[in-house]
Amino acid sequence: MKYYIETYGCQMNVYDTGKMAELLKANLYSETERPEEADVILVNTCSVREHAEQRALARIRELGLVSGSTNAVLAVCGCMAQRFGRELLNIQGVDLVMGPDSYSGLIDGLARCSANATRVVDTSRKPGFRFEPSASGERPGLRAFVSIMKGCSNLCSFCIVPSVRGPAVSRPPEEVLAEVRSLTESGVRDVTLIGQNVNAYVGSDVDFAALLGAVSDAAGEARVRFTTSHPKDMSPSVFRVMVEKQNVCEHIHLPLQSGSDRILERMRRGYTRADYRKLVQEARSLIPGVSITTDIIVGFPGETRQDFGETCAFVEECGFDSAFMFKYSPRPGTEAASMADDVPREEKERRLSELISLQRRVSFRRSSELVGQTLEVLVEEEKLKGDSLLLSGRTRCNRIVLFEGPRDLVGGFSRVSVLSTKGVSLLGMLSGN
Ligand code: 5AD
Ligand code: SF4
Repeated sequence: MKYYIETYGCQMNVYDTGKMAELLKANLYSETERPEEADVILVNTCSVREHAEQRALARIRELGLVSGSTNAVLAVCGCMAQRFGRELLNIQGVDLVMGPDSYSGLIDGLARCSANATRVVDTSRKPGFRFEPSASGERPGLRAFVSIMKGCSNLCSFCIVPSVRGPAVSRPPEEVLAEVRSLTESGVRDVTLIGQNVNAYVGSDVDFAALLGAVSDAAGEARVRFTTSHPKDMSPSVFRVMVEKQNVCEHIHLPLQSGSDRILERMRRGYTRADYRKLVQEARSLIPGVSITTDIIVGFPGETRQDFGETCAFVEECGFDSAFMFKYSPRPGTEAASMADDVPREEKERRLSELISLQRRVSFRRSSELVGQTLEVLVEEEKLKGDSLLLSGRTRCNRIVLFEGPRDLVGGFSRVSVLSTKGVSLLGMLSGN
């Protein structure tokens, strides 16, 4: 039996896809890259922006045609499955709709669909943390995600996640540590702890800083990262762990969303520009070489040219290493969806491209500061660039570096001197020391 899977959205979906793949492999499925030859087609969807949903819907329709002609089972999972439930069965070819709380029943659901030619919907919410599928026995890659929380209990007025994924539930620390140990023992060299708001972690008596410290010890030589942080809950105690623990990498993804206090208030983010500035200053003064990345939304309801100008000035001031930037799109059921979406589409587009070019300059400036430095790189793969085969790896601050070197360095750490940059990624050469 063969499965084909497509993944949209955030790291949580990437993680879930990995877990579903483990379950499938443990049940004697193997992966195929071609939907036409699959017995099971899965689409793991995202609801965070309207555009993401439209793209996934179009793709589900296409794959519905494929499954219609090959008799494969077509399963829609992830946030859209949770949000639309049974409605998705109206798309031709869809057999199974499964929300993120239900993946432990995946094999059973697929069996029911294929044996009885019935259609199955499971979007029930389960209390507690999610599933722990049996390992497939397959060797993981060099990098892996470990989920430490599900859901989110924030009330950001633009965000659909809390209503789709439910309130925040932390995974027991023993489970997190066991997964980290098992991954690093099987060769993973870079572990990223993931959650919608990792700083809100509360597992028994353990807060996020304590969990990070424990994970660092459990990970041995492997690097440890985490995402996503929320400025309202980020505490300097986390910065201190980042400094104390050698294997915790100097990178913080800290979504700003807007640089205007008026808009931050309307977004219900729970911090001001001054609070955010203080965090950035503390992080930079405590953690040498820290890289800070962010998410920004432009064209939020009520955002004036002046508010947008404040965001631009603040982006310049913070000097983000890189940023994900989005046009606001209203999401059904959120508080902001009831506000007038009063920034015209063309203006949102103008602001977005202005911000993107500004950030490009800022990223270039940050990258240029790395030129001349020698950095520790986890070598991940060989890559063909033009005519030459180069090694590609990642720095502790999460930059990609390309450099010449022998293939047997893949999988280990190398010291690389940075020679130049074209933007976010870097070109380097193996360092003698
Ligand atoms: N419109 C545009 N961007 C959004 N994001 C979340 N909700 C919306 C929305 N309604 C962005 C935020 C968040 C990232 C994952 O997606 O910047 O941090
Ligand atoms: Fe998209 Fe959010 Fe769901 Fe992740 S949790 S897949 S970002 S809607």
